[in-house]
Amino acid sequence: MIIAPSLLSADFLNLKQDIARFDGIENLWLHLDIMDGHFVPNLTFGAGVLKELSSITNHKLDAHLMVTNPEEYIQPLSKIGIYNYTFHWEAVTHHDSLIAKARDHFKSVGVALNPSTPVHVIPSYLLAKLDLILIMSVNPGFGGQSFIEGTIDKILKLTQLKNDLGLSFQIQVDGGINDNNVKRLKDAGANNVVAGSYIFNEKNNDYSSQITKLREA
Ligand code: DX5
Ligand code: ZN
Repeated sequence: MIIAPSLLSADFLNLKQDIARFDGIENLWLHLDIMDGHFVPNLTFGAGVLKELSSITNHKLDAHLMVTNPEEYIQPLSKIGIYNYTFHWEAVTHHDSLIAKARDHFKSVGVALNPSTPVHVIPSYLLAKLDLILIMSVNPGFGGQSFIEGTIDKILKLTQLKNDLGLSFQIQVDGGINDNNVKRLKDAGANNVVAGSYIFNEKNNDYSSQITKLREA
């Protein structure tokens, strides 16, 4: 199980210290929520901050683009060592061509689906071109929201599709994840979970024990 702490809930005034708490933890991606104040009603970090972040960690960097024009981010993000590039299906018209362009710059390319977007919108031939599907379990834009229960059914449907087609893309889930729901996500077929407030709100900053709890739930 890959755990992807979402830096949206980190202490922005002490980011370096917060990121160092993940040093040496295996199967961990750093999840970077990139927002434009347009696709979602919030703003986060831009290329300048991300470049600095990339210089202080060996973990894979996972960019979740909650932006209207994800194509414009390919160039700047590719220069700073982003591993996975995930754009929102709802933001894009020409999915196939964006996947092809992203493929030239990133080892891993993903598509995110909002809670109200069904998994069958992605045709089989495109599923075969993707490394990751991100199922949003909250409406994107903010950390600390409650998990939407209907997500489990979506994961089950996507797992079924993945098995039927014999594909190996990752199934990532993002939003409201904690030690009460993570086992059900795993059982439904998720192998990569994003967690923000559950990890960063631990009162003694013991992020590593929160990650262990998610893995062992
Ligand atoms: C929401 C973001 C999430 C968020 C998760 O738009 O995509 O990554 O930070 O935070 P929690 O785990 O607190 O719901
Ligand atoms: Zn996210």
